[in-house]
Amino acid sequence: MKICVIGAGYVGLTAGACLSEIGHNVICVDNDKVKINNLKKSIMPFFEPELFEIVSSNLKRRSLSFSLDISDAIKKSDVCFIAVGTPQKADGSCDLSSVFDVAKQIGKSINGYKLIVNKSTSLIGTTEKIKKIIQLETSSDIDVIVNPEFLSQGSAVKNFLKPDRLIIGATSQRAIEIFKKIYSPLLISSERFVVMDEKSAEMTKYASNIFLATKISYMNEIANLCEKVGANINNVKLGMSYDNRIGDKFLNSGIGFGGSCFPKDIEAILSLAKEFNCNLDIVSSVGLVNKNQRKIFLNKILNKFNNNIPNKVFSIWGLSFKPDTSDVRCSPSIDIISFLLDCNAKINVYDPKANNNIKDMFKDKISYFDNPYEALQNADALIILTDWKEFLSPDFNKIKTLLKTSIIFDGRNLYDKNYLLSLGIEYFGIGV
Ligand code: UDX
Repeated sequence: MKICVIGAGYVGLTAGACLSEIGHNVICVDNDKVKINNLKKSIMPFFEPELFEIVSSNLKRRSLSFSLDISDAIKKSDVCFIAVGTPQKADGSCDLSSVFDVAKQIGKSINGYKLIVNKSTSLIGTTEKIKKIIQLETSSDIDVIVNPEFLSQGSAVKNFLKPDRLIIGATSQRAIEIFKKIYSPLLISSERFVVMDEKSAEMTKYASNIFLATKISYMNEIANLCEKVGANINNVKLGMSYDNRIGDKFLNSGIGFGGSCFPKDIEAILSLAKEFNCNLDIVSSVGLVNKNQRKIFLNKILNKFNNNIPNKVFSIWGLSFKPDTSDVRCSPSIDIISFLLDCNAKINVYDPKANNNIKDMFKDKISYFDNPYEALQNADALIILTDWKEFLSPDFNKIKTLLKTSIIFDGRNLYDKNYLLSLGIEYFGIGV
């Protein structure tokens, strides 16, 4: 099938590359000239495991191409996926202007029946609005459906090619059949292929993301209490996880969630609820607990140094908001580095993929290292902010030798407190 994907960000680029991988002819469109020119040469705009490989192989076999010309891409395609950004406005609400601009361009360029699939995370009611905008520009026959994307950064390709469910909000039988045909190579079982009305599908995306964020904030609150009463959150988590009703995912306490989805989605839903005069007390608490979790962690650092950290040197391992990505959007590392800099501390950082993205923000205010151990030289403490696999079993003796004082603040609970204490390393985790 001939498909165009409008927007070559995390969702659009992954979707475009994977759709070409499963046999479709895909044009990926973006209005960022540099990005498109780079992608034509297989130069990726961000790090995502396996993405480079499928982009370059599908470019070679010409099943995937990149273009700046949205009108031409729409004309050449039977199906158009919308995957542009829906950033947060200053008041917390969701900025849908890029989605609506694309809808208008689709309406202006359309040359016959098209199926339009919205994949951008969009507020409830957006599918209907997209349809109206297109219909103002054309009398061509169209179907507009919504297909929320549930992929996670760091495992996006795997998630796309082996989705745990496919959800569409659609009423037109013709649209449902075309969509099923597009995804048929993924052999998803019929009970995991869920068709519902548009508004429910749009809400499912927000409800899922915020539920996961709720699990994290809940565990962070329990971890804080564990610390006060002398319990260990790692044991509590293990005990809870054997209850099938709870499960073992998203129970890790730490410095709170970041990324481009959870924080933004919470604000968007709160703003929508306000419009409808509907109180969402749990959702607003999830956001508050998350913001507070960074402060609680920073207080541990301040307390240890008797509130005296000017000129103290901190070595930070991990900058991305989660492992296996170079993305630092809403990453806890930004809040933590900003606070420490405001206190006139000195900061050395190491991240396997995200150094450059943090450098764009903090420039020469902090020092960047290509090797985790070099970042430790003469530091007063090591601070762990991302749970990259390479941090799981480091050489603790080397850490001890390189640090000026053997102290680890572990924002991701990677290490065993008693083991570190036995090595003579002072350890501060979360809820342990
Ligand atoms: C999320 C959803 O998981 C995905 O389904 C949706 O499509 C987009 O938003 P993503 O933002 O890529 O994906 O990352 P995710 O793995 O959900 O992690 C989000 C944040 O939560 C990270 O900062 C991570 O470190 C944190 N987290 C996750 C925890 O603090 N504890 C956990 O147990 C799990």
